[in-house]
Amino acid sequence: MQSMALTFHPKSLNKMSVYVRTLTINDIDKIIELENACFPEAERATPAKFRYRLNVCGELSHGLFTLSKPHPDTPRGISDFQPKEILIAMISATKTTSPVVSEASMRIPHDLLDKYGAEKSTIVLPVSQPPQTSESQDAPPTQPAADSQASTAAAPPSEAPKQAVKEAAPAVEGHVEHGETVCIHSLCVDPNYRNNGYSQVLLRDFCQRMKDAGLSKRIALICRKETTGVYTKSQFFRYKGNSAVTHGGVSWVDMVYEYTTPPKGRGSAVRT
Ligand SMILES: CC(C)(COP(=O)(O)OP(=O)(O)OC[C@H]1O[C@@H](n2cnc3c(N)ncnc32)[C@H](O)[C@@H]1OP(=O)(O)O)[C@@H](O)C(=O)NCCC(=O)NCCS
Repeated sequence: MQSMALTFHPKSLNKMSVYVRTLTINDIDKIIELENACFPEAERATPAKFRYRLNVCGELSHGLFTLSKPHPDTPRGISDFQPKEILIAMISATKTTSPVVSEASMRIPHDLLDKYGAEKSTIVLPVSQPPQTSESQDAPPTQPAADSQASTAAAPPSEAPKQAVKEAAPAVEGHVEHGETVCIHSLCVDPNYRNNGYSQVLLRDFCQRMKDAGLSKRIALICRKETTGVYTKSQFFRYKGNSAVTHGGVSWVDMVYEYTTPPKGRGSAVRT
């Protein structure tokens, strides 16, 4: 288990000590609990997706933790109190060859669905598409198939043949080790710990570490338009327009941090 010292200080460091470490399969219960507390059901990643991501690219999932404290009345020196880790915030990520987050990058590869205990979708795909499993191992069966935004049913009739050609080559699903884009699929903070700057602590730490590792060129994520402020606030990410992803049946926008683009503002990415 790799423990990591913080590279950025939260607004509330004087209130509580926190640290970042990579998440492992031993954290799965805490991860699922946090995801459930933070996202509506249609937007959540399934436990199977977390198991898959922790297994194939666990180094890309980071948690911000604190340790529980003994009750203030506990006499000093004679306590057998064992501190427990509390997961305050997490980032779950994979890598892809696409420059932005795609539906395919969010999936478990088709041939690994059984291994990670994911339910296969029964979504009917357009005739022009090769058979694939919906991204929505997460999504309810009524959701459109992932990567099927180009469905002939959804596209204007005149565009349908063009879309079919564009989608003819199936996108690589899930994590791609040689991919140069790190995709953040989840950033969330326990509701009990919000508005203390913890999302920024974890996000900036993650960005700095990914850049320093030298194994990718950028970090991409999708978010709702109303939450772009969380990412622009970090001064790393730039708004890149509407995303093609339809996950959860809502509209998303692309946010990207290119390592070659200096962060906005001064001192925002300075290591402490
Ligand atoms: C969004 C979320 C991660 C913010 O976590 P947090 O630790 O409370 O945020 P911070 O305290 O670090 O706030 C950082 C900045 O982002 C802004 N911000 C926080 N939550 C926001 C939200 N829901 N929408 C827009 N901006 C938000 C704050 O205004 C703050 O800027 P300020 O210091 O200038 O006021 C947290 O509310 C959460 O987990 N939400 C549910 C999951 C989610 O929406 N994830 C991200 C979008 S995909």
